[in-house]
Amino acid sequence: MKRIVIFASGSGSNAENLIRFFQNSDLGSVTQVLTNNPHAKVLDRCKRLDIPAFSFNRQAFSKSENVLNLLKIAQPDLIVLAGFLWKFPEFILKEFENKVINIHPALLPKYGGKGMYGMHVHNAVVENKESETGITIHYVNENYDEGAIIFQAKCSILPSDSAEDVASKIHQLEFEHFPKVVEKLLGTEALEVPLKY
Ligand code: GAR
Repeated sequence: MKRIVIFASGSGSNAENLIRFFQNSDLGSVTQVLTNNPHAKVLDRCKRLDIPAFSFNRQAFSKSENVLNLLKIAQPDLIVLAGFLWKFPEFILKEFENKVINIHPALLPKYGGKGMYGMHVHNAVVENKESETGITIHYVNENYDEGAIIFQAKCSILPSDSAEDVASKIHQLEFEHFPKVVEKLLGTEALEVPLKY
C-alpha cells in the first residue's frame, strides 16, 4: 500500500475527501495529516475519521528538521498539500523530489503567488469579471504556485456569481478530480518524473 501524507491549514474538506476516497482503495491510504494551525478544523475531521494528525510550528517546520524527520519516518510515497498555506522549505522538497503536490483554486499561472489563496483568489477572479476559472494540481517547487502542472479543470462563471458561488464551484471540481489525480500518480511507477495528464 502506498502512503499519502496530507498537509492542510484550515477546514480540510479536501483532506477529508481524500481520506474517504482512499479508505476504499487498495492502492494507498492517507496515513497522517499535518497542520501548521493547532485550531484548524481539519484536526476535528481527522479525529472523526480516526486518522493520526499533528500540528507543528514554524520552528519545527522550517527552522529545524523536526517535521522532516517525522516525514522520513512516515515514508510517504506522496505528500499532498490540500489548502496548506505555508511555503514548503527547500530542504524538505530536496528529500522528497517530485513527491510533493499542491492544489490551487485557479487556472495557474493566473491568480497564483504569495497571498493568492482561498477566498482571495475567488474575490480577484470575480472582480476581474473572468468568464471561467478552475483548479490546478501541480508539483511544488521553491516558488509559490510555480511547479510543473499535472492537471487542470475549468468551470464557467456567470455574471451573477459571487465569490462564494465560485468557491463552491471550485470545491466541487476539487472533490471530483483531486483524489483521481492522486490515485493516478500513486499508480505510476516513475513518480520521479513529472507527468502531465
Ligand atoms: C482549496 O480550495 C484549495 O484549493 C485552496 O484552499 C482551499 C482549502 O479548502 N488552496 C489554496 O488556496 C493554496 N494556495 P479546504 O480546507 O476545505 O480543503
